[in-house]
Amino acid sequence: MQNYSKEVMDHFLNPRNIGKIDAPSGEGEVGNPVCGDIMTLYIKVEKNSKKEDCISEICFETLGCGAAIATSSMITEMAKGKTLEEAWKISNMDVAKSLGGLPEPKMHCSNLAAGALKKAIRDYYKKKGETPKFIDK
Ligand code: FES
Repeated sequence: MQNYSKEVMDHFLNPRNIGKIDAPSGEGEVGNPVCGDIMTLYIKVEKNSKKEDCISEICFETLGCGAAIATSSMITEMAKGKTLEEAWKISNMDVAKSLGGLPEPKMHCSNLAAGALKKAIRDYYKKKGETPKFIDK
């Protein structure tokens, strides 16, 4: 096992929010072409008290390495309860930082989680036929 932080080991061994949401509001699947690992992220979107689109539920399924599972688990905790605009801004660096860092050769694994979340948010707006300003084309 690489030199993983205790946060990475915790999320790898006890992943949070693992699974699938039936009829999700948005879904994003990304694959890492280098290693072949795959992650799918599901979100349920509801309005908060300010009538903003908010992530009320979030789950993931990941076929991948320990770092991919840990980053998937961590991003679900970071995004839950956030507005879609706030969740859109979560970067792979933010995820790695929240995990106490990742060994350099494993940094690319965090791209899966951040990419899948963005894809799920895009999917939600695509289904609604909307493109909010914070989403780049
Ligand atoms: Fe494939 Fe980490 S080695 S995502």
